This record gives sequence, structure tokens and C-alpha cells, in this order.
Amino acid sequence: MLTLDRISRQFGGVTALEQVSLTVPSGQVFGLIGPNGAGKTTVFNLITGLFPPSSGEMHFQGQSLLGLPPYRIATRGIARTFQNIRLFSEMSLIDNVIVGMHAHLDYPIWDAVLRTPRFRAMERNARMEAHHLLQRVGLGDLSQELAGNLSYGNQRKLEIARALATQPRLLLLDEPVAGMNATEKNAVMALIESLRQDHLTVFMIEHDMRFVMGLCDTVAVLNFGRIIAEGTPSAIQSNPAVIEAYLGQEDTAS
Ligand SMILES: Nc1ncnc2c1ncn2[C@@H]1O[C@H](COP(=O)(O)OP(=O)(O)O)[C@@H](O)[C@H]1O
Ligand SMILES: [Mg+2]
Repeated sequence: MLTLDRISRQFGGVTALEQVSLTVPSGQVFGLIGPNGAGKTTVFNLITGLFPPSSGEMHFQGQSLLGLPPYRIATRGIARTFQNIRLFSEMSLIDNVIVGMHAHLDYPIWDAVLRTPRFRAMERNARMEAHHLLQRVGLGDLSQELAGNLSYGNQRKLEIARALATQPRLLLLDEPVAGMNATEKNAVMALIESLRQDHLTVFMIEHDMRFVMGLCDTVAVLNFGRIIAEGTPSAIQSNPAVIEAYLGQEDTAS
């Protein structure tokens, strides 16, 4: 579904990614792990067109992503959440989700200005769909609440609902359970499992090993901008290079 072929990216003199090649197969939950600063979020920023790679190729469903602006990549079927939550905190939950839908709500501007019956019907449908998505992520009872009043865990769930509103084929999740308690993590785990049942492909960055190893079909490990291992969760957990990379991180953290 998604392939990265020898992708590199420099920031000034810093090489954030070096010759990264990855294949995310259709229908999988694919995990990307690695120590802080390894370049994980940069991978998502490149895929979603926030900035271009310095070199290399990226394809989604057989078509190159190079040179496409973010909105075109979104309409091709790639949606994401952010490591640093980006919501409209002064807007209700339901309106945050409806904003996510506008990428595929397609109507002439005059319909909106004149509030034609056609526009009002579309708006009603959008509200129903948004409500359904909020229920799906477990926020159905809070649809009129302001996003800014939500707990951190619930804000992450709202971001997922908003990403799903674009009806993606590939969902990129950047640390979806960071800051969540065990109950919230289990709810998100069940949600991702249900997305897999619906044949959505999920590509996630996550630090929580129980979460990653419990959900992912394949895990790739990034360290200092390079892929050092890729395989099943059990193969990754016993891979000496991976253990080394994580032990190294603990050494520097303490
Ligand atoms: N927009 C940017 N400008 C300059 N440097 C960046 C930018 N984005 C990321 N970097 C650098 O690239 C490296 C990888 O960052 P990042 O992809 O955020 O790592 P991770 O998500 O694995 O923690 C870091 O050294 C970071 O400082
Ligand atoms: Mg990151």
C-alpha cells in the first residue's frame, strides 16, 4: 500500500533520515518504534507532504507522493494524528470532526452561502456521520463539549475521530496512547483492532511496547535515522541490535 524507497532527509547539517526503505502492506497494523530523535515523526511528515525528502521515492497505492501538497495526499486517502495534539480547542467535539470531513465534502460555495436544501441535507448527513465517529472512539456522550475541556486521553481519541472523518485508506498515528492510563490504552487498542477488521491499514509510531507488540503485524525499528530491524513483534523483541539501541537510550537517560 505504502512504500518508501531509500528516503533521506537532512535538516541543515543534521541527517534525520538516511536511506530509509519501508513497505506497509495493505490491511496490516504496522509499527515504527525507536528512541527519541530517531526520525519517526519525520517519516510521517514526509509521507503527508509537510516537507519533501532530500532524496528517495515514496509511493502510495502505486502512485508517487513526491511533489504533492498535503491536501492532495489527504484526498488520496492518507490521514494522520499528531504527536503534539492539534485540535480546535474552542470548538465542540462534533465540529472538530466535521472540520475533518471537509476534505471530502464537495459542494459549490453558493450552496453554502444560500444554505440551499441540498447544502442543509449534506450538513445533516455530516453531523450524523460525525456523531457516529465520536461514538466509535468512545466520545459519543461528549459531542457538544468543547475540545479544550477534554482530558488528554480523550483529546487523542478525538484526533483519531477527526482523522477517520476523511475516510482514509491509510491511517498514520503518532504516539496514539502517549499520556493515557491503562483503561484508555485498552480502549484505543480495541478501536485499532476494529479498524483492522474494517480493512483500514494502520501505520503507527508508539513507545508503549505492550501496545505495539500486542497490535502490530510488523514492526520496524529506527535508530539515528536508519532502519536497524524489521519483522514480527517476537523477532523484534529478541533482536540484539534493537535491544542494544534501547539499552543505549536508557544509559543516556539515567
Ligand atoms: N522541521 C525540522 N527542522 C529541523 N530539525 C528537525 C525538524 N524535524 C525534525 N528535526 C530533527 O530530526 C531529528 C528526528 O526528529 P523526529 O523525527 O521528531 O524524531 P522522533 O519522532 O523519532 O523522536 C531530530 O534531531 C530533530 O531535531
Ligand atoms: Mg516523534
